Amino acid sequence: MSQSVQAPRVLNIEDLRRAAKRRLPRVVFDYIDGGAEDEWTLRANSRAFEAVTLRPRCAVAVPSCDLRTVVLGASLPMPLILAPVGSSRLIHPRGEEAAAHAAGAAGIPYVLSTFSGCLLEDVAAASSAPLWYQLYLAGGRDCALPALDRAKAAGFSALVVTIDTAVAGMRERDFRNGVKELLGGKMRSMLPFVSQLLVKPRWLAGFFADGGLMKFPNIVVPGKGPMLYADVTAALEQSVVTWEDLEWIREAWTGPIVIKGIHTAEDARRAVDEGADALVVSNHGGRQLDRVAPSLQMLPEVVAAVGDRIEVLFDGGIRRGSDIIKALCLGARAVLVGRAYAYGLGAAGEAGVARAIEILRADLVRTLKLLGCASVGELARSYIDVPRDWLAK
Ligand code: GLV
Repeated sequence: MSQSVQAPRVLNIEDLRRAAKRRLPRVVFDYIDGGAEDEWTLRANSRAFEAVTLRPRCAVAVPSCDLRTVVLGASLPMPLILAPVGSSRLIHPRGEEAAAHAAGAAGIPYVLSTFSGCLLEDVAAASSAPLWYQLYLAGGRDCALPALDRAKAAGFSALVVTIDTAVAGMRERDFRNGVKELLGGKMRSMLPFVSQLLVKPRWLAGFFADGGLMKFPNIVVPGKGPMLYADVTAALEQSVVTWEDLEWIREAWTGPIVIKGIHTAEDARRAVDEGADALVVSNHGGRQLDRVAPSLQMLPEVVAAVGDRIEVLFDGGIRRGSDIIKALCLGARAVLVGRAYAYGLGAAGEAGVARAIEILRADLVRTLKLLGCASVGELARSYIDVPRDWLAK
């Protein structure tokens, strides 16, 4: 494993974040690191964990910890899933394959974004652990249906439908860094923004060696070919996924369906009514609607409403194993992490993703032992103190 992400240089996810910042051009780092508008929800997601404190049972020997859990019928070695991260191939050469390979080595699921730079078949070949395909309708049903068939044939076992992206959030850092101009491909408009790429020659060399790809090979526009990065924002807006779409999606996809982007009990009940198998309490890492409540704060409401009828998963702000423990104590079956591993990918490719997973796994074991709890299955509300108003609804 790459020395650059080993102890003592890298001890935690924030260390990986700093290493990614050093290696990546600002425009790429900020794409991962940034959120929408004031980034209030982005910050609140992480801060919410500070409001929950742990209640250990001391003088309890826990010689070994059982991290195993079951999600969508699959036994997982730990309650951790790599979330869909769009354009991972910009973060590191063949980024989606690298992340899937690291997830596979750890035996945990990897969720491939529709906005992947790698062919979904190549990603599927990179992991023997469960793979889930995340669906956006960019390009409409005609683009989505063949992708679903391909994903099924390649062995993706579950479909994740993201419902919080009717339009891209206002990610101001992306505008300031000239994402639109850089993707537009016109020299004159690009010029004011290219210096941020030139000062990171290692990243730039990797990007060109990887083909300098600016297309999404899994969104194939009939008669045109793979959709260009530059066209995606408009395409997304033109084909908003709605609850009604679930009907044809369900017909096309016979496996489990996960609804990602649940913020409230109301939408959680709707997901159950629509026959979803799992949901993800998620505000898209604070990248979509700013000022929505942090995911962790909404988790008790959702679990109280539907926790006995559907598998509740969680994402938003996880940087430590103790954060995972808190989400599980509040009723999540497993968590997804996006930035936590994307920083690793930016820092050192696959080795960085593997390091992120290892950090979180070691955190989980240590925290369970310090809590006096032998397994994630035994985690319960009694191991935490929660702000009273989170539980009131
Ligand atoms: C894509 O889903 C993103 O959040 O950038």
